[in-house]
Amino acid sequence: MSDAPLPILILPDPRLRQKARPVGEGDGDAVRALAPRMLATMYAAPGIGLAAPQVGVGLRLVVLDLGPREKPAPMVLVNPEIVAASAERAVREEGCLSLPGQFAEVERPARVKVRWRELDGTRREMEAEGLLGVCLQHEIDHLDGVLFVDHLSALKRNMLLRKLAKEQRAKARAE
Ligand code: NI
Repeated sequence: MSDAPLPILILPDPRLRQKARPVGEGDGDAVRALAPRMLATMYAAPGIGLAAPQVGVGLRLVVLDLGPREKPAPMVLVNPEIVAASAERAVREEGCLSLPGQFAEVERPARVKVRWRELDGTRREMEAEGLLGVCLQHEIDHLDGVLFVDHLSALKRNMLLRKLAKEQRAKARAE
């Protein structure tokens, strides 16, 4: 089983805007093969979270690692869902491997309760806040074709998307 990094899709790739389908009984082998490759892709980027649509796979699968580099703590979340969110909100700077070089302050619920299954089918549930809470919300958004810029005002979003397009064109010219 290869764990070579996969290419990460960059906006405006339309696959980033599609709603991913739930991982079903028949997807076990595909998901067990994909999860280590997604982790390898995320570490190589480097990043702290990656959702399957970002590598062109329309399945509800997310990988995360918020551990220190010297002590990896990979998480693989199959069919993750937010089952509760606090009324209290918090602001934190976010970026995304699919919008390289772009960062913005995003407001979201301060705490969420998330449910998912592990690769072996075990049901898990956790409450998260801070960086983990943001990361879970950001990655689960990807499964619905939602990107962090969608939480910004139209003005800020358009500025950031224009900057991304300009930088990507400059990068393509340089290559
Ligand atoms: Ni992202």
